[in-house]
Amino acid sequence: MRQHWVIGNWKMNGGLAANQTLLAGVRAAAGPAAPVRLGVCAPFPYLLQCQQALDGSGVVWGAQDLSAEIGGAFTGEVCGAMLTDFDCGIVIVGHSERRLYHGESEVRVAEKALRAVENGIRPVFCIGETQDQHDAGETEAVLARQLMPLFALLNETRLAMVIVAYEPVWAIGTGKTPTPEDAQAVHRFIRARLADHSAALAEALPVIYGGSVKSGNAASLFAQPDIDGGLIGGASLDAGEFLAIAKAAH
Ligand code: G3H
Repeated sequence: MRQHWVIGNWKMNGGLAANQTLLAGVRAAAGPAAPVRLGVCAPFPYLLQCQQALDGSGVVWGAQDLSAEIGGAFTGEVCGAMLTDFDCGIVIVGHSERRLYHGESEVRVAEKALRAVENGIRPVFCIGETQDQHDAGETEAVLARQLMPLFALLNETRLAMVIVAYEPVWAIGTGKTPTPEDAQAVHRFIRARLADHSAALAEALPVIYGGSVKSGNAASLFAQPDIDGGLIGGASLDAGEFLAIAKAAH
């Protein structure tokens, strides 16, 4: 059975005091042998705090982005080697907010995934269509295009470290979600594209769903055969709600 993941993306939220409470809540409920892997993706300044609070808990932590560069004169950037200094196990790449507000191209996102893997960090590779693309019936074409550079840049061994996150942009922070059946159909499409590349890969890779997941809708989404957990934004800022979502992925 594929590993299920429930990963919190704190986005640009939090602060030392609030994080401490949140991390303690997540740690208290998590066990190393839990059937669902829990992850927390924090802003860069709080990675040390995550490391100190979650070390030995079984919860994986990481960042929300990394540079496509290896190091050097790139002001404001953070490279993969720096994330390994804080034992990051995961890193989000290609979140739609990065693609939209920071102009990250499809190739650049795949380069970031490669940098993550080269540093032993699992990239949470986000793909998803906008509302307009959805309405125009372009969802599958958009997803196939976003996946293509990943296949071009990562060999099969490297691809095995990827966690794919399907996040319809129109569902992020809006309270709107696809029906579980519609989400399942898209996840099946993504898995079929993975299978075009390698059947073993398609079988093994977690494909998680993100976009307005709450404790109330998580179970029906996660019950779908090709939905292997979730990438949780707003609801990950409350430990009780986040853990209720994680429970739904068991
Ligand atoms: O990375 C998380 C997604 O953008 C979902 O955010 O749960 O607040 O809709 P949301």
